[in-house]
Amino acid sequence: MIYHQHEVVIIGAGLAGSRAALEVSKVADCAVISKIFPSRSHSGAAQGGMGASLGNLDDDNWEFHMFDTVKGSDYLGDQDAAEILAKDAPEVIYELEHLGAPFSRTPEGKIAQRKFGGHTLNFGEKPALRACYSADYTGHVLLHTLFEQCIKHSVRFYSEFQMVHLIVKDNVCRGIVAWDICNGGLHVFRAKAVLFATGGYGRAYKITTNAHANTGDGLGMVLNAGLPLEDMEFVQFHPTGIYRNGILMTEGARGEGAYLLNKDGERFMKHYAPTLMELAPRDMVARAIQTEINEGRGCQSPEQKEQGIPGDFVHLDISHLGEAKLREVLPQIFDLARNFAGVDVAKEPTPIQPTAHYSMGGIPCTTDGRVISDHDNTIVRGLYAAGECACISVHGANRLGCNSTLDATLYGRRTGHTIARDVGDMIYEELPADGPDEAQKNLQWFFDADGRENVADIRSELQDTMMINCGIFREEKLLTEQLGIIKNLQDRFGKIGVKDKNQQFNTEVMEAMELGHLLNFSEVIVTGAVARQESRGAHARNDFTDRDDKNWLKHTLAYRENGDIRLDFKPVIITRFEPKERKY
Ligand code: FUM
Repeated sequence: MIYHQHEVVIIGAGLAGSRAALEVSKVADCAVISKIFPSRSHSGAAQGGMGASLGNLDDDNWEFHMFDTVKGSDYLGDQDAAEILAKDAPEVIYELEHLGAPFSRTPEGKIAQRKFGGHTLNFGEKPALRACYSADYTGHVLLHTLFEQCIKHSVRFYSEFQMVHLIVKDNVCRGIVAWDICNGGLHVFRAKAVLFATGGYGRAYKITTNAHANTGDGLGMVLNAGLPLEDMEFVQFHPTGIYRNGILMTEGARGEGAYLLNKDGERFMKHYAPTLMELAPRDMVARAIQTEINEGRGCQSPEQKEQGIPGDFVHLDISHLGEAKLREVLPQIFDLARNFAGVDVAKEPTPIQPTAHYSMGGIPCTTDGRVISDHDNTIVRGLYAAGECACISVHGANRLGCNSTLDATLYGRRTGHTIARDVGDMIYEELPADGPDEAQKNLQWFFDADGRENVADIRSELQDTMMINCGIFREEKLLTEQLGIIKNLQDRFGKIGVKDKNQQFNTEVMEAMELGHLLNFSEVIVTGAVARQESRGAHARNDFTDRDDKNWLKHTLAYRENGDIRLDFKPVIITRFEPKERKY
């Protein structure tokens, strides 16, 4: 076991982790631990933009942005957090510009802005041009800009280190233990402050935009440390994933004017969101697509037609923009559609289906990024969270597109500020003797595993069944069934076999560990979904179709206790906008 000491340790090198590291590194010794090479973090897959009311092309302002974020959240978002997001967004964008981020430009040289779902002017009147972008490589350029800056500021990166254990004792975080993926062996990182920026968990679902690394490891470890997760029942399906593989076709396409068409060539969104049409919030567009498919208006592949099977996708058509414009503003989806759907977007529509994309829930924390352990907002000293793994909760029951790159960067920066402020008064807390030993024992369990169950089989069954039983539309019977399935899979997980016993780059052990986390937090998602007897944002119940503010205008907090999940609740912070009916 190798011991390290850094004042601040950040887990995750995506937009939240690297932006926080940049801030912290100005005043403290800062290390970033990443299970993949930092510039391969999943933030790099964000395509369409980052929201900020710069008003470069219209009369936008932060209050419109805040209102849209709150309404988009189906009024579950905490409004103090939404206000910070909307107010600070322009400053965060200009700062990125000055750090070297190559944003697309208007003819006069201002940062270009495009439309995105649910973003409006004048409290819902018409779409706003709010998403700042770099063609459709926005996440990629931001990630590289921040990585360069971190290198410049001497942030120490531990790449290809997999965190295996969070050391929390007496509500105080003391460090973490990580596994060196390349060379093998455990490393103990003692720290005054630990920031979780571990990203999302789309890999709990079969069809997802998420990278293979997005297995929600941070969430699993938080649960294992006896801490809660908040609002995990809210899983966002992005409306437009490439049919069958789920790869993202950016909402920026609809922002630039793409249509959604059913098998009759009808722009069906007119029936669901007559004002905003394809630019309604994601939960609504995803439900509309699924409804078209479920009611027999999905498009059919030639084989489906031949066999008389109903179609299970719809079309995203952007061909009317013409090749020159498409190559300028959406070059990545040009390539993705060609490589993964065999489609030339300048000539024909792309088959798409909703795809698991984003987690509104996560590690509960304050607007300053401090992790809390209960409904009284008790702070876990020395532990912070930012980005997709965190639940501040700014997105409530449904996040608006282009608010995630913003949330990660803005709250990464803000939490970095908090840590930079706190760290001078903090000490290295004593490591409990059993912390590293427990990590060693857990790791050894995987190397020793010689059962008959197969990791890939269990993972596939989880992903397939989460899609069917806890997807866009939910109901008690299927959710309860899913809980039983997860319990059974957890049981089988205890009997897995791992054949590869090598210490170096052992991806079999790695995948087994990731599966443990998937099974752990998926139980929380489903437990929350069973309990929440209403429809709100991304959580749509066929058996409770209305939003129920009387009983359910509250956050869930889930704890793992004695092998089961216990739910507690926390009020929603409402400051400016009282909950109203949500029409677009
Ligand atoms: O559609 C997209 O480009 C994704 C953006 C987001 O999730 O905010």
